[in-house]
Amino acid sequence: MILGVNVDHVATIRQARKGIEPDPVMAATLAILGGAEGITVHLREDRRHIQDRDLKMLKELVPVELNLEMAATKDMIDIATQLKPDMVTLVPEKRQELTTEGGLDVRSQKRSISETIKKIHDYGIPVSLFINPDVNYISSSKQIAADMVEIHTGMYANAKDKKQETELNRVINSVRHAQDVGLIVNAGHGLNYFNVTKIASIQGIRGLYIGHSIISRAVLVGIERAVREMKELITEAT
Ligand code: PXP
Repeated sequence: MILGVNVDHVATIRQARKGIEPDPVMAATLAILGGAEGITVHLREDRRHIQDRDLKMLKELVPVELNLEMAATKDMIDIATQLKPDMVTLVPEKRQELTTEGGLDVRSQKRSISETIKKIHDYGIPVSLFINPDVNYISSSKQIAADMVEIHTGMYANAKDKKQETELNRVINSVRHAQDVGLIVNAGHGLNYFNVTKIASIQGIRGLYIGHSIISRAVLVGIERAVREMKELITEAT
């Protein structure tokens, strides 16, 4: 099973100061050194975290799978077809949301998503659809010629006790159904160091896409060394 690391969260910290650090491109190269087999970025319409420059540099530098998450808009289709990432994941995008909240409504937007898939396929780029764990969405994704689906694990991640088991079963059934209809199946959103194993042990998932928890842990495991290095500089100077 591959691990795709989402580095948007590094860019979110950079954009808090609109400066140059921390650089998500540097974070991506370090994630690859750590074993990431994929790098994901979501270029949002409002450019709140990842910038066009990041995407261009990642395309040059990343030797593993570059997954561009994007809304199905004309501007984004133009960017994707020019840049040619290794894959595109279509997601719904709302300006007010803190992160991608739900999966694509593949059933009600079948026609427009299908046209977007065709345009991206014309450039030889595989397309994944980020969908809620619902067998109907999976069937619809197959009908409109998606190559892959990414099952939204956020509801599983947020649920507790019995409800979590129910949500896990929804993910398991969705993975099975996706395999049965011949879709490649990935999963992601809200996965962390405590809830990942149950998802990672589902047979048939090709890859997991994880961001927030990895970047959050990186801040904590790196803080001691970062403070020590600053102390050394100050001590040497005084
Ligand atoms: N997959 C998709 C489609 C997403 O939008 C996100 C969040 O950017 C992720 C996976 C990763 O989610 P998280 O940051 O919660 O690990």
